[in-house]
Amino acid sequence: MSMFFRAKVTPLPPPPPPPIDVVLLATLVVLACFTLYLLLTRRTEPSAPTLEASCRARSVPSFKVMDVVQKADKLARSGRRIYHLEVGQPQSSAPRAAIERAREQLSSDRCGYTAARGEPPLRAALAQMYKDTYGVTVSPERIHLTPGSSGAFTIAFMAAFDVGDAVAVPSVCYPCYRNLLNCYGCEVVPLPVDSRYNVTAKELAAGQRARGRAGLPPIKGLILSSPANPTGAMLTPDELRELCALCDATGVQFLSDEIYHGIVFEGAPRLACALEFSRKAIIINSFSK
Ligand SMILES: Cc1ncc(COP(=O)(O)O)c(C=O)c1O
Repeated sequence: MSMFFRAKVTPLPPPPPPPIDVVLLATLVVLACFTLYLLLTRRTEPSAPTLEASCRARSVPSFKVMDVVQKADKLARSGRRIYHLEVGQPQSSAPRAAIERAREQLSSDRCGYTAARGEPPLRAALAQMYKDTYGVTVSPERIHLTPGSSGAFTIAFMAAFDVGDAVAVPSVCYPCYRNLLNCYGCEVVPLPVDSRYNVTAKELAAGQRARGRAGLPPIKGLILSSPANPTGAMLTPDELRELCALCDATGVQFLSDEIYHGIVFEGAPRLACALEFSRKAIIINSFSK
């Protein structure tokens, strides 16, 4: 005989849901663990080396035109159409003969150092150019070639000026003069320009007198460009002669930036070279324009 007992099974009631704050706490704990895991397993980038910039480096402001170039390039890469008015540079390429010659040289096997002061035939050709254009005799020995005139400023400033020397520039001028002079520890003396934006002998003499009255050390150097950037102002040959004479008579080393010679409107005065009036002047010129 089989007997079946039927047990009476009463289902257990479902457990009560955990209180809200327990759920929140658990979620936070999980999140924290996950974050910790990510942090510990993260592949760290090697940190960029940091440079403790020199006082000299920190004292030089950026060259604003290059900031504009950088921004314009960035916008161009993002698809914006850019009309470039920021840097002054030729619209054409190098002369065909120069391109051909460069090509020949590059495809020959000569790939070594060149003469540090520039290849002698090029220096001789430049000396001839000074003879033909300005009627001045310059020995090729006095000509140094640098990558861009900015390299020439560096060499000329280092050669001519000591730390603390007072060097005058027109109050409106190519900004790199100030930046480089500051960088080399020179005192920059801005000379107010005349109504044509020029610094002539009159403005230099006024600056010298003002320093004398203030008991400041004399002006040791002057740099200006004619035609000038950014104003386009130009000195006439007579004004340049007077300026050179004053510089030579008062011990001011004159650096004549003649990079814009040849870029003038028709009817402009003849462009004189400072070497016509002073054998002491340092001339800065460039192929870059
Ligand atoms: C007056 C002046 N000098 C020098 C330079 C620099 O010339 P480079 O490009 O040969 O360094 C410029 C450039 O714009 C300039 O305007």
